[in-house]
Amino acid sequence: MDKARVLIVDDEQAARVGLSEIISAWGYETQSASDGVEALEIANEFHPGAVITDVFMPRLDGFGLLARLREEYPETAVVLLTGQGSIEDAVRAVIEEGAFYYFEKPINTRQLNVVLQRAIERAATQLENTRLRRQLGEYGVFGRLVGNSHAMRQIYTTIEQVATSAVSVLITGESGTGKEVVANTIHQLSPRVSRPFVAINCSAIPESLMESELFGHERGAFTGAIARREGCFELANTGTLFLDEIAEMPVMLQAKLLRVLEDRKVRRLGSSKEVPVDVRVLAATNKDPHEAVRRGELREDLLYRLNVIHIKMPPLRERREDIPLLAEFMAKELSDRHGRPARMVSPEVLEAFSRHQWPGNVRELRNVIEHAVVVCESQRIEKQHLPPAMFDGSSMRNEDSINLPIPISLDEAERQLILKTLIKTNNNKTRAADLLQISLKTLHNKLKAYREENED
Ligand SMILES: Nc1ncnc2c1ncn2[C@@H]1O[C@H](COP(=O)(O)OP(=O)(O)OP(=O)(O)O)[C@@H](O)[C@H]1O
Ligand SMILES: [Mg+2]
Repeated sequence: MDKARVLIVDDEQAARVGLSEIISAWGYETQSASDGVEALEIANEFHPGAVITDVFMPRLDGFGLLARLREEYPETAVVLLTGQGSIEDAVRAVIEEGAFYYFEKPINTRQLNVVLQRAIERAATQLENTRLRRQLGEYGVFGRLVGNSHAMRQIYTTIEQVATSAVSVLITGESGTGKEVVANTIHQLSPRVSRPFVAINCSAIPESLMESELFGHERGAFTGAIARREGCFELANTGTLFLDEIAEMPVMLQAKLLRVLEDRKVRRLGSSKEVPVDVRVLAATNKDPHEAVRRGELREDLLYRLNVIHIKMPPLRERREDIPLLAEFMAKELSDRHGRPARMVSPEVLEAFSRHQWPGNVRELRNVIEHAVVVCESQRIEKQHLPPAMFDGSSMRNEDSINLPIPISLDEAERQLILKTLIKTNNNKTRAADLLQISLKTLHNKLKAYREENED
């Protein structure tokens, strides 16, 4: 990886050289300038993550330099070095003008070391943020998430807002809607990006092993515990822990989990010692969490603890306008991966996609595109490259489709459509009329007619 870059600005040569030596020895790449004007010239090519600048300098002073850097390089963190006379101004610069920190001379180098690490970390996060936002403006892509729909843009905004803090986030949505990609993106945009991201799928681990998987165990804690082992919480320490399929976790363990989240300490199985942990927790479920609480599968107190922020992933059928963009991105990505020629998707294919129900959401779309990419010998994916299952209705959800025998009269087809819609809406007539795009009165009249026919 590239070394992080630090620019040192001071009009006194001795101070410049001394500071450069110390900071280079910490593993940074450094350059130096003797005033604000020269610093701006260097910054233009050097792109420093952090600038450490003296306050009193000829031509452009430290405050002037700060203002220019904030405007032109908003990601760069600026650390001010002040003498006696300018402390108040420096404090104000931190509070009001976005300086990252200030130090009084003579500098405590141990503190400077810590501050510099944080400054560089923040600069990296902000740069990543800017890059992603720019991408979004251009193509409707945010990290690994693709989509330009209103729903997805709102999700990008929420991700940006929550990424910088450590609050818990609950991500819900049907299978294949991108919950894991969202969790990943939050971590990528957070200050924890260089720390571990640990994911644990609660539905994939046998109940008997889950506790030790989460909290770890000491040697001999249970039969088969032949060596000491750290759990996910310790592995994710200072980073992010993603608890996938949280509603599948045994309720007993949910109580323990809640305690760990509140106390920020874990105790390995078979140990009497508690270890402090600093972990940001993200959780996901494809169930309706409140429904899961009602059914006793999810503890209500845990839900409230995890659900500080709720991100609800829309099913693909509710953001169909994203399908062409997704299809194109995936065709390119998967062709590259498999060394295949397809780069485009034909209008007929997009037409078929726009009518499909996508019960498996984005994952299903991805699988369909992958199939097509592999069998397609040309640049453009056509209908004949799609998996046959896409058209036989078997991949449609039963409750969302209707099978009619042919021949059938128009009246009979209409009657079956109406009855099936009523079943789907749980006999909610207002909603059924809405879905059928007829008035409630028309629906009532038709139902009345069917009843009378039956009585005949
Ligand atoms: N908005 C999106 N843009 C691009 N790819 C996406 C998007 N959403 C999902 N995907 C892709 O779809 C697949 C499924 O996504 P993911 O595993 O995140 O779904 P999930 O909601 O966690 O599903 P499950 O509940 O089944 O675990 C992955 O290959 C992912 O990369
Ligand atoms: Mg998942």
